[in-house]
Amino acid sequence: MNIVGEKVLLRAIEYTDKDVLLNLINDPNVESMVMGWSFPVSSDQQAKWLERINEDKNTLRVIIEAEHTAIGTAVLSNIDYKNGSAEIHIKMLLEKYGNKGYGTDTIKTLLKYAFSELRLHSIYALVCEHNDISRRLFANCGFVCEGTMRERLFKNGGYVNVMMYSIINQA
Ligand SMILES: CC(C)(COP(=O)(O)OP(=O)(O)OC[C@H]1O[C@@H](n2cnc3c(N)ncnc32)[C@H](O)[C@@H]1OP(=O)(O)O)[C@@H](O)C(=O)NCCC(=O)NCCS
Repeated sequence: MNIVGEKVLLRAIEYTDKDVLLNLINDPNVESMVMGWSFPVSSDQQAKWLERINEDKNTLRVIIEAEHTAIGTAVLSNIDYKNGSAEIHIKMLLEKYGNKGYGTDTIKTLLKYAFSELRLHSIYALVCEHNDISRRLFANCGFVCEGTMRERLFKNGGYVNVMMYSIINQA
């Protein structure tokens, strides 16, 4: 089932999304803001990764679609059905689609799905302290900062703090 927001549609990843995913994984601006890192990824490696991702009931990966275009990805990972928790991630093609409210709508839409359909209880996000946009994004969506993990990542030539945000389902 596609997940429908006010501005975005969240749908399954198709093989034809390979180039968007490749742009996102290889974009230095995006990598400087997210928890993960990778060596440069080739088109062939991306294609093989696409063949591997499926059937994992503890990870929900979606393409963010807006303006009839794939503009990014969002993920619920570490879905723990007993404790009702999961981690949320998002990354978008910033130059063309950033700062238009698509990130906010994606997080709100995925939260609604996680709480109402998957019946999860708490969702958390790990955010680099220097990622002001993401901190605003999660705060605007109702997340609360629980604390700071000191110098947890090495980014852009130095160790950076990571902030833990979470939101509890109040329904
Ligand atoms: C984080 C991200 C998903 C936000 O998506 P987005 O669609 O640009 O966000 P929105 O348009 O919904 O805006 C969210 C908030 O950030 C602000 N914002 C967005 N882009 C901004 C920019 N370039 N400069 C200043 N503020 C910006 C918005 O004004 C809004 O805050 P406000 O409502 O309090 O004014 C996007 O920037 C991204 O993909 N970044 C790279 C990957 C990343 O950091 N992922 C998150 C890891 S935790």
